[in-house]
Amino acid sequence: MLTPPQNSHQPVLRLEGVSLGYGDFTVLREISLEVLPGQVVAMMGGSGSGKTTLLRAATGQLVARQGTITLFGQNLAHADRPLLQSLRQRMGVLFQQGALFTDLNVFENVAFPLREHLSLSATQLTERVLEKLNAVGLRAAAHLKVSEISGGMARRVALARAVVLEPELVLYDEPFAGLDPISLGITARLIRSLSDRLGCASVVITHDIAESFAIADHVYLVGQGELKAHGTPATLGASTDPYVQQFLHGHADGPVAFDYPVTPAFEAWLARTGTQA
Ligand SMILES: Nc1ncnc2c1ncn2[C@@H]1O[C@H](COP(=O)(O)OP(=O)(O)O)[C@@H](O)[C@H]1O
Ligand SMILES: [Mg+2]
Repeated sequence: MLTPPQNSHQPVLRLEGVSLGYGDFTVLREISLEVLPGQVVAMMGGSGSGKTTLLRAATGQLVARQGTITLFGQNLAHADRPLLQSLRQRMGVLFQQGALFTDLNVFENVAFPLREHLSLSATQLTERVLEKLNAVGLRAAAHLKVSEISGGMARRVALARAVVLEPELVLYDEPFAGLDPISLGITARLIRSLSDRLGCASVVITHDIAESFAIADHVYLVGQGELKAHGTPATLGASTDPYVQQFLHGHADGPVAFDYPVTPAFEAWLARTGTQA
């Protein structure tokens, strides 16, 4: 299946007025965003705000209810299975809790996508895997079992595996979750340097503000079912928008209330309990 060559200024991923949901539940409405070649884009929002849902839409696993999703210049609504397959081969994904195969060693974990998708000679395969392990600082850990490496190292192996096919776009779903502060900083800098070395675009889904602001070219903030704000880390940091302020500074009260609002149903329930409120 032929796909048009990637123009260096054409977005690798673009969403225009996209609505997403499950059954009769709409998770996100009217989302428009774009990711340019080589950019690191952070997609931020609270837990349950729809970040993983956005990622599923970008890979074509979830169909947009409204709007258009364009991946490598192709409208996903019109992509048949073979085209989707060929587009996905140009994309790396690090899933939330990106698990490694515990019965394979570090080398074989990174080699796995190569064995699946390319027919390289043994020498070429070894070279490619060691080069990617080298990029994450783990060349000399190639022979270790997954049970012999730390959580931070495992995340770096997962990064190497996500980029081993040299994709044009890598999607990272919460790559910092569960890492100690040092591993977290290392992982963030690695995402930036892998993007710069390979020239690939990176979308980092996270709620970690400090690390994503340090590496991102552009930040999108989703909440309450919509895109709340976007811009460079500097513009968002300087924003006086109350929602942006609350998210960035973690205030308990603001546009997102800490207290669940009192409803007539609650008052009726309270009256029935006979409690003096
Ligand atoms: N497969 C699914 N079916 C139904 N609802 C889902 C499904 N996946 C996620 N949701 C709901 O969609 C909302 C957004 O979920 P998700 O995209 O996983 O959020 P995030 O990744 O930002 O934490 C949540 O309310 C979640 O319960
Ligand atoms: Mg998620």
